[in-house]
Amino acid sequence: MSHSVICRSEMVGATLNLGGQPLDLTEYSTTGLMALAVGPRGFGKTNAGLLMAEQLSEQGWVSLVLDPEGELESVYGAAVADAEDLRQRLTLRDTPIVVVSAKDALEFIPYGQVILEVADEHRKPLFVCIDEGQLFSAARKRSDGVGEACDIIAQFAERGRKRALDLFVTALRYTGTLHRTMFSNSNLKLIGAQEDPTAWSALAPMFRSSGIEFKDLNALGPGEFICFSRRGIEKTRMPMADGLKKVAPKAKTVKRTLPANFSQWDRAMREIPTERLEALTDPVVDLLGAVAGLLPQQMLAGARAFGDEMEARV
Ligand SMILES: Nc1ncnc2c1ncn2[C@@H]1O[C@H](COP(=O)(O)OP(=O)(O)OP(=O)(O)O)[C@@H](O)[C@H]1O
Ligand SMILES: [Mg+2]
Repeated sequence: MSHSVICRSEMVGATLNLGGQPLDLTEYSTTGLMALAVGPRGFGKTNAGLLMAEQLSEQGWVSLVLDPEGELESVYGAAVADAEDLRQRLTLRDTPIVVVSAKDALEFIPYGQVILEVADEHRKPLFVCIDEGQLFSAARKRSDGVGEACDIIAQFAERGRKRALDLFVTALRYTGTLHRTMFSNSNLKLIGAQEDPTAWSALAPMFRSSGIEFKDLNALGPGEFICFSRRGIEKTRMPMADGLKKVAPKAKTVKRTLPANFSQWDRAMREIPTERLEALTDPVVDLLGAVAGLLPQQMLAGARAFGDEMEARV
């Protein structure tokens, strides 16, 4: 079978409204979309994917949302029964948002193969939203079907461009969760709140010269992301997806900041159980200090404060 040169005409003039100025997808018409959202639990990653799925399905795409947690059927209707059912839906293109229930990599594989086959054959705009991507595309793990699922998703990313297949993946963390190609190939990144200072070393290069620091990421609330797109870097406050609006309350934004004065530090310390502090042995502290790039004076001051705290607890 021969195919004409792919032209993503549906991209021309299409937009994504992720908060703020809508993103013009014309700029993605030669590459397709390979989007990624990273953030802790409950900070709006699923919402981001659903928002895109809803908006794209109104502009000529069929959206497929992979639902590992069984939370989407109540929003968009019953999941497809099996892989053949999925093939039907994607071929007929009669369902704007198709729910696929797969709780792990093994369950995902037959669906993933059908997605590849249909995309190959029809080359009609398809948006695939893979929520909790770490379940299907680990950084290292290859067993329990993860290797095969990971290869399929890598093919979505690599071959998608010529098959009108656009991709969105969510993950809990930036490193150690997804396969590397996912990060290197992505052209729309949403970075949500970061709670772990040690994660900053992996992220810092992206933010170089942006003026954004760890404390800015740490202070992001639910639905807030730093968005890297063709347009540059900007902070966005995401609207709620229509589907979620019906079932989920809008989260109240609580400003999260690192403790800034003694009483805040004191309160934060008291909330940490003693066993967790005891796990901070010298080698662990040295490693964390090295990762965070602390000066010897800072390490010493920290060790003193830590010693005081542990003494006060006995
Ligand atoms: N843009 C937003 N504005 C306001 N509230 C939001 C927004 N996005 C999400 N929320 C709230 O946060 C809750 C969690 O959102 P969501 O399920 O998208 O997070 P998640 O990052 O996917 O979490 P999990 O890791 O638990 O799946 C939603 O139920 C909603 O109440
Ligand atoms: Mg979620």
